[in-house]
Amino acid sequence: MQLHTAVCDLLRIERPVGNAGMAGGTAGPALAAAVANAGGLGGLGGVSRRGPAGLRDDIRRTRELTGHPFSVNLWVHILPALPQLLDVCIEERVPSVTFTFGDAQPYVRRAKDAGIIVLHQVQTVAQARQAAAAGVDVIIAQGGEAGGHTGSVATMALVPQAVDTAAGVPVLAAGGIADGRGLVAALALGAQGVIMGTRFVAAEESEPPAYQHRERILAATADDTIWTDVFDIVDGIPWPWPEWIHGRTVRTEFAAEWHGREAELREQIAAIRAEATVPQEAPARAQSAYAGQASGLVRDVKPAAAIIDEIMREADEVLAQLPRP
Ligand SMILES: Cc1cc2nc3c(=O)[nH]c(=O)nc-3n(C[C@H](O)[C@H](O)[C@H](O)COP(=O)(O)O)c2cc1C
Repeated sequence: MQLHTAVCDLLRIERPVGNAGMAGGTAGPALAAAVANAGGLGGLGGVSRRGPAGLRDDIRRTRELTGHPFSVNLWVHILPALPQLLDVCIEERVPSVTFTFGDAQPYVRRAKDAGIIVLHQVQTVAQARQAAAAGVDVIIAQGGEAGGHTGSVATMALVPQAVDTAAGVPVLAAGGIADGRGLVAALALGAQGVIMGTRFVAAEESEPPAYQHRERILAATADDTIWTDVFDIVDGIPWPWPEWIHGRTVRTEFAAEWHGREAELREQIAAIRAEATVPQEAPARAQSAYAGQASGLVRDVKPAAAIIDEIMREADEVLAQLPRP
């Protein structure tokens, strides 16, 4: 059996699984194209230190690697300062964009008028309602167990409430999903598919720039992450995050040392950054390891296509084994 939901037809994909468009290079053209070529929704990170010109290059490179649709991830809270990121997506006529971390309403019409499918990742029920009213095509309900920047409502509670409030707009689930059990659970909650980040950091095609990022995920369990601002302070991104958003990361030694002491960290940050040997980068000990509570389900590094094959096979097995009346 091949699981195929209505959102697959809307997005022109075969399998209801996508990778998160992880910023900073992690989800670059190689990963987005590998997922797209495997029949899933390829996600291309739209935000990096390379700015709009780097994004244009990445979109073109992705197109060289795949003829299938993919989605460019854009952080809403930086678009007022960097509107060129959306301009590039429109000029390059990308198949879809995924807005996240704020109210996408000011940008939805412009993207849709350009023929771009609009996904919006939300962290609360109120945002899901707002996204549906703004006319987005797909809502991604991201639970607080997700890796990377996320809110506090758990996937298990958020997804069905987002579905109920979405007025028929299809919902994808994100956060805490890394295998076929999670995919089936998401479908049972009313989602039409899943977006995974942590699992795909351990895809061969991802390019996590952070020190020992994959190794830390492979070693972690659900107990080993924290939700913190420590690495935002280290990264020094000039645009403030919405107040409901913090970063979920493996609790590295550095994170454990500074979580809860953010004011002191801000005072020390210049000295810590000065330890760096690579310009623009934090020293290895202060690099993030963004990952979610599903880390304990990630046990190997393999090609994205093999990850998707496995999750689809597992989902079939789980469905076959579910107790029936
Ligand atoms: C390393 C990493 C980087 C991420 N970067 C982004 C990002 O740039 N934009 C975004 O919308 N979400 C980002 N996320 C969150 C994902 O979109 C997604 O919601 C999350 O990974 C799903 O939960 P999971 O990690 O349990 O699969 C990131 C996640 C990780 C693990």
